[in-house]
Amino acid sequence: MYSEQFSLQTYNTFGLDVTTHAFFEYSDMQKCIDFFRAQRYKKPIFILGGGSNVLFTKDFPGTIIHPNNKGIRIVDETQETVFVSVAAGEVWDDFVAWVVEHNFYGIENLSLIPGSVGASAVQNIGAYGVEAKDFIHEVVFYDADTDEMRSFSNEECAFGYRSSFFKRRHDALLCISHLVFALSKKEKYFLEYGNIKDVLPDSTSLSLIQVRNAILFIRETKLPNPEFIGNAGSFFKNPVVTKDKADKIREKFPHMVSFPVSETEVKIAAGWLLDELGCKTFRVGDAAVHEKQALVLINLGHACGNDFVRLAERIIQHVNSKVGIELEPEVIFL
Ligand code: FAD
Ligand code: EPU
Repeated sequence: MYSEQFSLQTYNTFGLDVTTHAFFEYSDMQKCIDFFRAQRYKKPIFILGGGSNVLFTKDFPGTIIHPNNKGIRIVDETQETVFVSVAAGEVWDDFVAWVVEHNFYGIENLSLIPGSVGASAVQNIGAYGVEAKDFIHEVVFYDADTDEMRSFSNEECAFGYRSSFFKRRHDALLCISHLVFALSKKEKYFLEYGNIKDVLPDSTSLSLIQVRNAILFIRETKLPNPEFIGNAGSFFKNPVVTKDKADKIREKFPHMVSFPVSETEVKIAAGWLLDELGCKTFRVGDAAVHEKQALVLINLGHACGNDFVRLAERIIQHVNSKVGIELEPEVIFL
């Protein structure tokens, strides 16, 4: 499907009322390849999945490509591992539900993260002690600059915290077609993060669906549902600082929430930091800070992209002046 002057209001989870010069949606990867080959698009080009990690600061002046290809199938298995191929246009949580239903272990803690399967590799999505990179075996994509299908192993994707080769090159025309996940056939859970154990039922035997339900419950009580309150999850990344710097901040704020990253580095919970520094009352126009999770910026109704830009600048400046940390947005500004 190709349209011009297309509204993106339902294609970004902030619910911002913006339009794109052109919009192209495909359900068959070959159609995507043909579209690029025909070169009838207007640049800039941006590949938009569920729009749950982007901030449109203005109308988009070029072409939005929206993958909507579907399909999940088992492509290989060993005694312990199953390899599942999944199309980039699948909704991430539909895929997690399928995996849990089939009794494969690994990604259940990533339940209910909004967005598409393709973006899970771009973002290296993570939650409750698990990251997509722990289970991504292969990423297959079309490189429109060289007009070829390419395949990257997990190592070649160069995953980092909410980052990957694809994220760092999001100006390049790399359109992910599908991913192959390597999941465990043997029972194995990740229950150490936060309060997961507290919300699980008291029982000696545990099931995947119980773990998924616990994650759904935790997320639903803390994170705003974008269907009702526009948001893009954590607006900023949790900052990683030297241990020395973290120790200095802890002297001033003894209850600082932080996690060791290496022998010399510590990750500070930015949500806690914003809360502690009084950012929950900050507001610019209809862009505000969520009362239950300060790391999430929300649309109170009629915010525009620029309200979020100004709110984010205000928060960054405030945090920098108080503790000397420059917060980095996780959300992509367009
Ligand atoms: P988009 O926002 O549309 O795009 C993100 C990036 O992926 C862009 O660079 C885009 O170009 C690229 N992209 C998308 N599809 C393709 C493709 N097929 N080929 C190439 N590039 C592509 N994230 C977490 O990690 N953990 C969380 O717990 C979490 N919780 C959230 C909770 C809420 C309420 C919300 C709204 C967001 C949350 N997020 C979380 C952020 C978001 O869900 C993820 O970043 C998600 O992966 C974005 O998916 P998307 O399809 O919406 O991507
Ligand atoms: N906290 C506060 N006040 C707040 C918010 C948080 O004190 O207003 C405290 C919490 O009590 C907790 C700590 O800060 O002790 C961390 O909070 P939380 O467990 O909610 O996690 P987070 O660090 O804010 C990260 C990810 C989330 C992911 C959760 C769960 C980033 C940027 N965010 O949030 O991912 O769901 O952990 O693993 O790493 C996303 O990337 O969009 C996202 C939502």
